[in-house]
Amino acid sequence: MHWPQVLEYPTGYDLPSTAEEILGGFQVLETPTFNDTWAKFERLHASGKARAIGVSNFSIKTLEQLFKTGKIVPAVNQVEMHPYFADTELLEYCRSKGIVVTAYSPTGLAKVRSDPTLVALAKKYNVAPAQIILAWHLARGVVTVPKSSNAGRQKENLTLATLREEDLAAVTALDRNERCEVWTKFGPDGKMLGWTREQYGW
Ligand SMILES: NC(=O)c1ccc[n+]([C@@H]2O[C@H](COP(=O)([O-])OP(=O)(O)OC[C@H]3O[C@@H](n4cnc5c(N)ncnc54)[C@H](OP(=O)(O)O)[C@@H]3O)[C@@H](O)[C@H]2O)c1
Repeated sequence: MHWPQVLEYPTGYDLPSTAEEILGGFQVLETPTFNDTWAKFERLHASGKARAIGVSNFSIKTLEQLFKTGKIVPAVNQVEMHPYFADTELLEYCRSKGIVVTAYSPTGLAKVRSDPTLVALAKKYNVAPAQIILAWHLARGVVTVPKSSNAGRQKENLTLATLREEDLAAVTALDRNERCEVWTKFGPDGKMLGWTREQYGW
């Protein structure tokens, strides 16, 4: 389940991509709720058509709401996570429930990859900053889905150094609770993709 809210997609659109579409172009529906959708997922799971079912962009708040009616614990919660947004509380919560966290935008966009601490660590280990970040995720037990259209960088992202404890701590210390993705910017009405921060539990 990509998001906790239900969006009616305009004909011809797949995913919202521009700020206008993200902030205004989509109608949020009251029903079905994500609890209703999860019940349908559970039926798919029971039928054997899905071996595992999971969620994305769920917070502790929305996961708690899901557990009110859900019988199956999501196999995975895919969320934005990188050194500027380490979200350790959500990671620990998911771990306590047996939910695997997958980091999207795992390398945190160019803004994070060019952080001086990460650039210095990359020099120290003779790798790219993205490799330092991915090694940090793995050390935290987080699954990553890095994306690269470049064969050389795809290879880089598969060959990771093992970071020393103090270097892992230095990456964690970069956390500043900053979501970097475009769809995490809220509009003047306090909404992003039709929901407020409070509804998301952010
Ligand atoms: N569930 C959700 O709501 C959600 C939201 C966002 C994203 N996602 C998924 O998460 C996946 C990854 O997300 P993402 O593409 O935003 O994050 P990402 O992998 O952290 O960033 C991709 C960007 O990083 C660059 N890059 C990759 N490896 C690099 C390296 N070693 N050195 C320097 N630059 C590097 C890529 O450029 P090049 O291509 O030029 O190498 C690309 O511009 C995608 O599959 C996406 O669909 C899911």
